[in-house]
Amino acid sequence: MRRSLAALLCFAAVPLAAQHDASKEGKPKNPAMGNPTAIASGQKLFVNSCAGCHGVKAEGGRGPNLRKRGVWHPLEDDALFTIIRKGIPGADMPASNFNEEQAWQVAAFVRALASPAIENPPPGNVQAGETTFWGKGGCSNCHRILGRGGMLGPDLSNAGATLAAEDLRESIVDPDADGFLRYKGATVVLANGTTLKGVARNRTNYSMQLQDAQGNLHMVDLSKAKQVDISDHSPMPRNYAQRLSKQEIDDLVAFLSRQSVRPFEPAEKK
Ligand code: HEC
Ligand code: HEC
Repeated sequence: MRRSLAALLCFAAVPLAAQHDASKEGKPKNPAMGNPTAIASGQKLFVNSCAGCHGVKAEGGRGPNLRKRGVWHPLEDDALFTIIRKGIPGADMPASNFNEEQAWQVAAFVRALASPAIENPPPGNVQAGETTFWGKGGCSNCHRILGRGGMLGPDLSNAGATLAAEDLRESIVDPDADGFLRYKGATVVLANGTTLKGVARNRTNYSMQLQDAQGNLHMVDLSKAKQVDISDHSPMPRNYAQRLSKQEIDDLVAFLSRQSVRPFEPAEKK
């Protein structure tokens, strides 16, 4: 055992040395970046000093939306820090009076808005969130994680690696917020009186594929159905903000932020 460990260490020494050289070229990350406490402090500063122009949820206003990557090109950490301290001369973005530590906290918050939740783990109890997901929240009636759960909503096995923490939160408390619907809830009463519930998949004027929570596809002849209701809303319940406590929602966000199909490596170690 000991020998194989020594061999492993020798073997590892080569890539480690190579990494060391590479990290001299790349700038070291400020410790605030990706740090949950710094992000939370940065959020408070942001709400006071930046939200007036960028929106409380950074959704944009007089200043640009800082959440959607398509709209906002992510900046290097240093550039972000400089913009926060000095503003953008000539543009309508003023300098702030933050000290260095505060400016880094705000930078960490802004970075977390537009990068995968797993890189910026939000506060919350992962285990409690897991329990709510599979239990009280009923999330698993519709969502799958690693092959377990329902089929009405998107698979969340990789949610932490693809969605930012604020997007996870918004998906839970305000499912229609993203404004576009990939999933429309549908209820169909067939000629024989059977009621089918699920999401409308492919739909023409004459037929529709309805997928139920078990994942079964039903081909429905619309001319023969007694009643067809297709909702303009996501089938995801819209009352979680009332049904669950703030703590339970924080815990769910924390749990989902850890869902990644590939193990997460912090950027410095890549
Ligand atoms: C008076 C309004 C205003 C305030 C206050 C403000 N911003 Fe801005 N911000 C803007 C405008 C306008 C732009 C777009 C400037 C441009 O590129 O023309 C901008 C741009 C930015 C950008 C994007 C820069 C880029 O190149 O993509 C970031 C990041 C940013 N602001 C962060 C912040 C932060 C953090 C705060 C609080 C410390 C803040 N802003 C306060 C108006 C404001
Ligand atoms: C009745 C079915 C249903 C239930 C119950 C449900 N969801 Fe959803 N959920 C959906 C559907 C459908 C979507 C996709 C449509 C949309 O964006 O609203 C979705 C979207 C999401 C997304 C965004 C996924 C993405 O890829 O954009 C997250 C995160 C999420 N749900 C988490 C949860 C959590 C956490 C719970 C439990 C508290 C839950 N859902 C309960 C059906 C459901």
